[in-house]
Amino acid sequence: METRAVVIEEYGHADQLKESQITLPELGEHQVLVKVKATSVNPIDWKLREGYLAQMMPWDFPITLGWDVAGEIVEVGSEVKDWHIGQEVFARPETTRFGTYADYTIVDDHLLAKKPDSISFEEAAAVPLAGLTAYQALFTHGKLKAGEKVLIHAGAGGVGIYAIQLAKNAGATVITTASKKNHELLKELGADQVIDYHTTDFSEVLEDIDLVFDTMGGDVQKDSFKVLNSDGRLISIVGAPDEELAKNVAVAESIWLQPDGKQLQEIADLMTEGKVKSIVGHTYPLTAEGVTEAHELSATHHAKGKIVLVNE
Ligand SMILES: NC(=O)c1ccc[n+]([C@@H]2O[C@H](COP(=O)([O-])OP(=O)(O)OC[C@H]3O[C@@H](n4cnc5c(N)ncnc54)[C@H](OP(=O)(O)O)[C@@H]3O)[C@@H](O)[C@H]2O)c1
Repeated sequence: METRAVVIEEYGHADQLKESQITLPELGEHQVLVKVKATSVNPIDWKLREGYLAQMMPWDFPITLGWDVAGEIVEVGSEVKDWHIGQEVFARPETTRFGTYADYTIVDDHLLAKKPDSISFEEAAAVPLAGLTAYQALFTHGKLKAGEKVLIHAGAGGVGIYAIQLAKNAGATVITTASKKNHELLKELGADQVIDYHTTDFSEVLEDIDLVFDTMGGDVQKDSFKVLNSDGRLISIVGAPDEELAKNVAVAESIWLQPDGKQLQEIADLMTEGKVKSIVGHTYPLTAEGVTEAHELSATHHAKGKIVLVNE
């Protein structure tokens, strides 16, 4: 079927973003078609647009960016058993060139989760990629347990806001870094200690940390090894840890998010219980102009919480 989408026809700056009619692939037996009510911007969107991921994802153009969706199921494949037309869902779909900056998008049925009734489509669209990344870094790879101390870098970012809440809910002591203007918010979300990275070097004031969640890389990642205890773990979502430094701790690895409907449903259930919420710091319309502004903001590295694109 045909759908309106915001696409790129070659790699480049935000001015490459264009509205276009594209033809979606045929719906697979285990796939559903979702009418997109909202999607969100993640740094991968503009990194891919710029061409930084061209080797890893050697796709044909046009490429529809965006890998978060909240919306309503409008068609189901012949083997889909657990989902039906009219259901409100959200997902982190497979990473293909048919992304979610579109009126309609295709999602594999095992990647879907039910949108909690208590949250809006905007709040739901903010979750999947960032929330699943936080979940997998902390628990699947970081093995965070109650009573442990976790340092979450960039707590005010898209991933950080979910990581703080998930870690707190798991019974950990949560330490995070952010600009002063975001401290109050992060404490409300559950942070026990917030360090202003502009004025304080975290590696001089922290010690005996069990887990570092590295969302920054570079010197922040290197300095993080100084604060870990000997059984400590460092999980990065931005770059492979230095091999020499990694020898001094139990675990140091760089991970890549795996889409997962069951884990997303766990986060959805926590949202229903009021234990996790989205912080939608910025919204833009799902138009070429709206996406352009949203990408420019995301690329500043100082967006507050999540940037959501609303399909009005
Ligand atoms: N491997 C994967 O699967 C995966 C998945 C998701 C994301 N990622 C990557 O992870 C990174 C973070 O993603 P995101 O969505 O959270 O990004 P984001 O929303 O763009 O992060 C923005 C936040 O970073 C904070 N920040 C900037 N510089 C900082 C510093 N030096 N120390 C502490 N905080 C700082 C800002 O806080 P203030 O405004 O308070 O300064 C801002 O709130 C990106 O590079 C992204 O590509 C990787």
